[in-house]
Amino acid sequence: MIYFDNSASTLLKPKNVQRAVLTALTSFSANPGRSGHMEALKTAMEVEKVRENLKKCANADEVIFTGGCTHALNLAILGFCEDGHVICTENEHNSVLRPLQHLKDENKITFSVAKQSSKKGIVWEDIEKHLTKETKLVIVNHISNVNGDVADIENIGTKLKEKGITFLVDGAQSGGHFRYDMKKMGIDMLVFSPHKGFYSPQGVGVLLKSEKIRLNPILFGGTGTNSLELHQPDISPERYESGTICTPAILGFGAGLEFVEENFNEIKEKLEDLTTYLHYEFSKLPIEIYTSTENANGVFAFNIPDVNSAEVATYLNDRYEICVRGGYHCAPFKHEALGTVSQGAVRVSFSVANTFQEVEKLIYAVKHFLKVYKR
Ligand code: ALA
Repeated sequence: MIYFDNSASTLLKPKNVQRAVLTALTSFSANPGRSGHMEALKTAMEVEKVRENLKKCANADEVIFTGGCTHALNLAILGFCEDGHVICTENEHNSVLRPLQHLKDENKITFSVAKQSSKKGIVWEDIEKHLTKETKLVIVNHISNVNGDVADIENIGTKLKEKGITFLVDGAQSGGHFRYDMKKMGIDMLVFSPHKGFYSPQGVGVLLKSEKIRLNPILFGGTGTNSLELHQPDISPERYESGTICTPAILGFGAGLEFVEENFNEIKEKLEDLTTYLHYEFSKLPIEIYTSTENANGVFAFNIPDVNSAEVATYLNDRYEICVRGGYHCAPFKHEALGTVSQGAVRVSFSVANTFQEVEKLIYAVKHFLKVYKR
């Protein structure tokens, strides 16, 4: 079996991640946010270590654990927007678009979708066009989960900071192979999807934010603090983390973070090299390629003309045991922009565990498809 669906979830969970999850189950199973006994405190200290490491890794003020990246984006958007105008981009995932549409349906906000003018990704000028006096929030998908386009978040962040407009970056696809400095880059809120680029378990997401941003909670309940008070507490992270957090996933994420820190250059190089190689070989074939040569970050999209992407994905799975994702990738405007609304797109997404031999096998399989099945 060859696994090329790492943008959905990396298949590799490194040994230290596996050990951390197991240790959480054997040694840190008390509830970290409740009670003052030694077992609860011991677990809480482990969770706090991960929180501190995350703060350091992105120069963030606050770290809020959520049930996943979608949850983190919902908190950032629904918690921030009370009124006004929001700008997002055509590369956004439905976990951004649907909360925005929901707020629009409730007549709370209006929003504009910035189109991409450059081959590489969204640039400041694409955003600037949509600014109004009412614009309070700009949301930018850093790396597209559909085809790997990369937004110029540093420049966008700098410009937004000058204008005092809040900047939310969706780092679901970039986290783990891009170094963030939220303060330097003018990012007010940043989300990660640990089970992708951090090689971590599913069941945890994270919202990193500046202390200047105060959100309305979207989840209410026990926080283990001020329990006689009916109002949700004001302090972070308690304000946003009601209910028992997922300790095994969080401790696994802590180990994933260490794995990524230790192997950062190797991961980045591997993703670049495999993507470049695939691009080079595929560009010799009569297929549509949707990934720019400028963006070699492990996400690659293509189609075989006139063949539905789901059919190609099924063929690769059934005939060659190659796992890729076909169809739509939860990013409707991106499919419109790429012209893949009727066909979807075949997405190949790499991790550090993939090899050139595996890519060769994919190239062989696609050549075979073109020869035998092409109508
Ligand atoms: N958003 C994830 C993907 O792109 C699940 O596949």
